[in-house]
Amino acid sequence: MKARKFAKVGSKLPGPNAARVVKKTAEYVSPSISRFYPLVVESARGSVVKDVDGNQFIDFAAGIAVLSTGSAHPKVVEAIERQSRKFIHFSYTDFYYENLVELSERLVSLIPGEFSKMVYYGNSGAEAIEAAMKLSRNYTRRPIFLAHSGAFHGRTMGALSLTASKPIQREGASPLIPETVHFPYPYCYRCPWKQTFPECDYYCVDYFKEQYIEKFVPIHEVAAYFFEPLQGEGGYIVPPPEYLRKMEFLRKEGILFVSDEIQTGVGRTGKFLGVEHFGVTPDLVTLAKGIASGLPLSAMVAKSELMESWKPGQHASTFGANPVAVEAALATLEVIRSERLMENARRLGNVAMKRLNEMKEKYEIVGDVRGLGLFVGAEIVKDKKSKARGEQEARQIIEYCFKHGLLLITAGRNTLRIIPPLNITEDELNEGLDIVEEGVAAINSLSTKG
Ligand SMILES: Cc1ncc(COP(=O)(O)O)c(C=O)c1O
Repeated sequence: MKARKFAKVGSKLPGPNAARVVKKTAEYVSPSISRFYPLVVESARGSVVKDVDGNQFIDFAAGIAVLSTGSAHPKVVEAIERQSRKFIHFSYTDFYYENLVELSERLVSLIPGEFSKMVYYGNSGAEAIEAAMKLSRNYTRRPIFLAHSGAFHGRTMGALSLTASKPIQREGASPLIPETVHFPYPYCYRCPWKQTFPECDYYCVDYFKEQYIEKFVPIHEVAAYFFEPLQGEGGYIVPPPEYLRKMEFLRKEGILFVSDEIQTGVGRTGKFLGVEHFGVTPDLVTLAKGIASGLPLSAMVAKSELMESWKPGQHASTFGANPVAVEAALATLEVIRSERLMENARRLGNVAMKRLNEMKEKYEIVGDVRGLGLFVGAEIVKDKKSKARGEQEARQIIEYCFKHGLLLITAGRNTLRIIPPLNITEDELNEGLDIVEEGVAAINSLSTKG
């Protein structure tokens, strides 16, 4: 085992303080929250986290892709303090403040598309999705939404109607919005049609046309196509390069393209938006998570022509565009620019991909490695030939990592997801990957023996 510089863990996890908090949490906090392991945070800086018993962890989870500039970046903290001393809330639903204009100008300039755009603000990813659903219906006056199986767009009732990644998320919530049509995501490692890319010549698109558009979806009643440019919660899946471009035939029919960038946006994939890797310019974009380095803020950016179809009072939220969160977002965007964090994401993403691909060569249980920038997944299987999902193995690996000082979580049923802060250092990343490799090796030998 290599010497550790950042990860420092005592003998027993959870320690006594963590165990107490976990027990109290179970008593008072909704059981609908599911957690991977008993980490109880005491403090965090950059990509290193301390728990309440003095253990130290490297952060490969970034508060689920939220801590884009790491924990407590000094410029973000300074912005929060500065704004808090001026005013903490005033509600943009009824009053004006200037930093909102500044942030909107910045966002509009960062989103692709040679057309004018406007921004609507909420507090969470799901709220941005709700806004995009409401706006696209309002503009088109059409009822139907298209989305993918495996998609995750949030858990409120509208967003949940688009979400299709785990049955538990919908359990007991029906009826949802009925006019929502799901079709398969282009998941080449597990192609639903058992085809191989590129020989398949995008059979998935032909299938969608033949079995959906020609059979039962009245195309002129579709308001919008919601997609994750890389699928996140569904398992960290990168689509084949031309997929979205091929789906653009829908736009000729007046269907709006909504790129859900809540997990992929704000530089995570090495470009500001994930969709920029695929040569498609969306009509609406949803952002949240990494936009304000941890303060609750979401944005729905749309062509002005669409946004102007809303009349005053048609949509709003009291806490949307909270001025402290707005200031944190401005600081986040500035840190990403001045510290060249998208470049860091690209460079270190390549380091992670290379090391994980080496693990794939070495270990039977690493089935597939995929990603862009610091949005990286490694799918764990029982064995490479059957590709049977290694759910239990993936869980054992993340537990091993936790016990050895790395916060790693899964996506989908059996994919390890590597989403550290965009400013993680190469040393931190490599130490984290050392722990991943030890975990993979340990579980691989258990699983191939058994
Ligand atoms: C792609 C995507 N859309 C929407 C959401 C929902 O965001 P929130 O949990 O902030 O409502 C998530 C959250 O994981 C997400 O990954």
